[in-house]
Amino acid sequence: MEPDTVITRTVIQRFRSARIAEHGLHIFLFGALVITGISQKYHGSDLSLWLIVQMGGIDWVRMVHRFAGLLFTLAICTHLLIAVFGIVVRRWQPALLISKKDIDDAVHNVRYYIGLEPRPASGGRFTYEQKFEYWGILTGGLIMILSGLLLWKPVLVTRFLPGETIPAAKVLHSNEALVVFLIIAGWHIYNAIFSPAVFPMNMSIFTGTISRERMKEDHLLELARIERRSPDEVLREDAAESGRSARRSDGRDAEEGDSPPETSLL
Ligand code: HEM
Repeated sequence: MEPDTVITRTVIQRFRSARIAEHGLHIFLFGALVITGISQKYHGSDLSLWLIVQMGGIDWVRMVHRFAGLLFTLAICTHLLIAVFGIVVRRWQPALLISKKDIDDAVHNVRYYIGLEPRPASGGRFTYEQKFEYWGILTGGLIMILSGLLLWKPVLVTRFLPGETIPAAKVLHSNEALVVFLIIAGWHIYNAIFSPAVFPMNMSIFTGTISRERMKEDHLLELARIERRSPDEVLREDAAESGRSARRSDGRDAEEGDSPPETSLL
């Protein structure tokens, strides 16, 4: 959903500062909600008791959870409003919407892993894995917000909805908390930190930049769009360039092809 990106020699600008700040805020608020929420859910465990005491007692924990929940609600609503405004008014590409190509890419990669395709699917600005992860976290976040708001004002809510709504919201909120936590802790953290492709960590959402090499691996279609070439041209010219550098490091062809690559496309 971002506007155009900037390319330098080997590093590409991927996220603007507003997106970096937003992600930092989400990490902070989600961390606060998990610590204060899970310590209430498992209030009998030694670790929860220790955390509750460190945070100043259960009343503080509940208050911080509700305050963080309110900020989280505002952050998610702002995120959605900006996305809708950007797409409708400023004509951003809806780069995170799931399309048929994402389903095809998922099938393509299964075929690749069992040796039926020569190379993995070429990703656009976001790969199909990133899109599935994004929508999983977003829908989980919206469920947490809705059930959290119902739990916040039970008396008011039951003036309009049946009394069973509150215990149902409690079960939903409590169990979805674990699901969202596991999606983030397992799937997202694995992909961002422990996956062999990015280990020790994909820093792009903190630095705003990504290496051109990583871009070629994961987002070939987006790289080709930025460099205004076809994906095949990117792969062919890169293969030719690495062949030339290999020959140069042999001491042969020293004068050929020494001009530096593009430093900026914008
Ligand atoms: C997305 C991250 C969130 C997580 C991981 C989370 C987790 C939890 C957990 C585990 C509980 C304890 C449930 C139990 O006792 O079994 C809880 C309670 C609660 N949560 Fe959340 N929550 C989140 C977001 C929110 C939001 C966005 C709101 C409000 C808008 C909210 C409001 C509440 C309220 C009101 C309670 C009842 C606790 C009390 O009585 O003070 N939560 N949460």
